[in-house]
Amino acid sequence: METSAPKRRENKKSLRVKVISLGNAEVGKSCIIKRYCEKRFVPKYLATIGIDYGVTKVQVRDREIKVNIFDMAGHPFFYEVRNEFYKDSQGVLLVYDVGLRESFEALDSWLGEMKQEMGSQANMDSIVFVVCANKVDLIKRRVVDEGEGRLFAESRGFHYFETSAQSGEGINEMFQAFFSSITDMCENGGKRPVTELSVGFTKEQADTIRRIRNSKDSWDMLGVKPGATREEVNKAYRKLAVLLHPDKCVAPGSEDAFKAVVNARTSLLKNIK
Ligand code: GTP
Ligand code: MG
Repeated sequence: METSAPKRRENKKSLRVKVISLGNAEVGKSCIIKRYCEKRFVPKYLATIGIDYGVTKVQVRDREIKVNIFDMAGHPFFYEVRNEFYKDSQGVLLVYDVGLRESFEALDSWLGEMKQEMGSQANMDSIVFVVCANKVDLIKRRVVDEGEGRLFAESRGFHYFETSAQSGEGINEMFQAFFSSITDMCENGGKRPVTELSVGFTKEQADTIRRIRNSKDSWDMLGVKPGATREEVNKAYRKLAVLLHPDKCVAPGSEDAFKAVVNARTSLLKNIK
């Protein structure tokens, strides 16, 4: 009689990863982490002093992941404490408050601070970034919409999630995607998988949508000088229309930007002889 030892499905080796949270003070970094790890929400603001550290274990597919979480203080006062902790991170939670535009606009300077500590862009390329548009439960005070946040994130190859530490919305989905991407990256030799970087739209398209959103009038929107001729307006319009036409451009906000450009051209042509 033939016997065979029962086949045991061995788990792959466990992974140890380091993640950090970044973003202005009071945007909800600690509450997002608390909501995920402790399933609770604390309404009272308790500023993080320097750094808070915690460990959690998660299962991604057939791997156990030990996650070391370094929750940074957002207050500028703690820069000297924070800057020690950027190195060797595999993942970054980049958090802003959808009700505070300055917290969204600060994301670039947070990336700048991190890049400075990491030494080069190459070191930033082997990190998974997730942008959390937090406090989406406070609907009435929202000033940064989904398109704008998504565009910021996806044009840089980052994930984007709408979250509320208060209600729990988006929190588990966000962490699952975060840890799963970090695991993919580790299994891919420390490089962010290519699929995450190919977002289906170009930097030129993303920059143009941002520029259109921030333009001060119709001339500015079309990128022509006030008093430009019909030909100049039409030429600028055609260029933008080709770049942003909804059939060609999948960048978040492209449809609104395209409509705005059509309206800007119509209103300018009405007043040009
Ligand atoms: P620092 O540690 O100072 O950098 O701040 P932080 O980003 O860690 O902010 P924290 O998590 O301490 O939250 C700041 C305040 O926002 C607290 O009063 C929280 O209760 C509140 N808060 C956090 N997340 C949410 C949310 O999703 N919705 C609402 N309504 N309030 C939130
Ligand atoms: Mg905190």
